[in-house]
Amino acid sequence: MTTTATLSIRRFEASDTDAVVALWQEAFPEYRDVTRPQRNPHLSIANKLATQPELFFVAVFGERIAGTVMGGYDGHRGWLYSLAVDESLRRHGIGTRLVAHVETALTERGCPKLNLQVLSAKADVRAFYEALGYRADAVISLGKRLGELAETPVA
Ligand SMILES: CC(C)(COP(=O)(O)OP(=O)(O)OC[C@H]1O[C@@H](n2cnc3c(N)ncnc32)[C@H](O)[C@@H]1OP(=O)(O)O)[C@@H](O)C(=O)NCCC(=O)NCCS
Repeated sequence: MTTTATLSIRRFEASDTDAVVALWQEAFPEYRDVTRPQRNPHLSIANKLATQPELFFVAVFGERIAGTVMGGYDGHRGWLYSLAVDESLRRHGIGTRLVAHVETALTERGCPKLNLQVLSAKADVRAFYEALGYRADAVISLGKRLGELAETPVA
């Protein structure tokens, strides 16, 4: 990471699409898994642009898309999704800043609690969130697919 470029966080723009998809394909192996067509980054972006697009953020380092994060607030709880930092730029505090940005945006909306899910195999990601003050809730996470994806296994 050079010291001349600066990092900023702003709302996602349509022109960021290719860079964001490339970043997600590197950061989230499931986006490269042809047996899991439900993990479609273009559909994820389109869906988010249709629902609270103001809570979809990118970190920009110089001219590069360095990271992403999505937030959501349903009036009861806030959720955080799609946090990813370019592999070559990790451990420089960008993930921390993205999480803080969503926390601020949700707090400003009156959101009292932010939830997120981490794959149980990702011990490093859990360590990241614990470093930011997140703790495991005494719950299990249940899910069910709806609509066209209803027959697709959840896991
Ligand atoms: C998780 C992720 C976003 C972290 O981004 P980052 O910019 O590297 O995180 P930060 O630099 O802000 O890290 C802050 C602190 O979290 C902890 N941390 C971060 N990455 C860690 C790792 N791989 N192992 C252990 N602790 C880690 C450290 O305490 C770190 O502080 P330090 O670097 O001073 O030791 C990044 O690793 C990533 O994109 N991973 C792949 C995508 C992913 O799994 N996303 C989460 C989906 S739930």
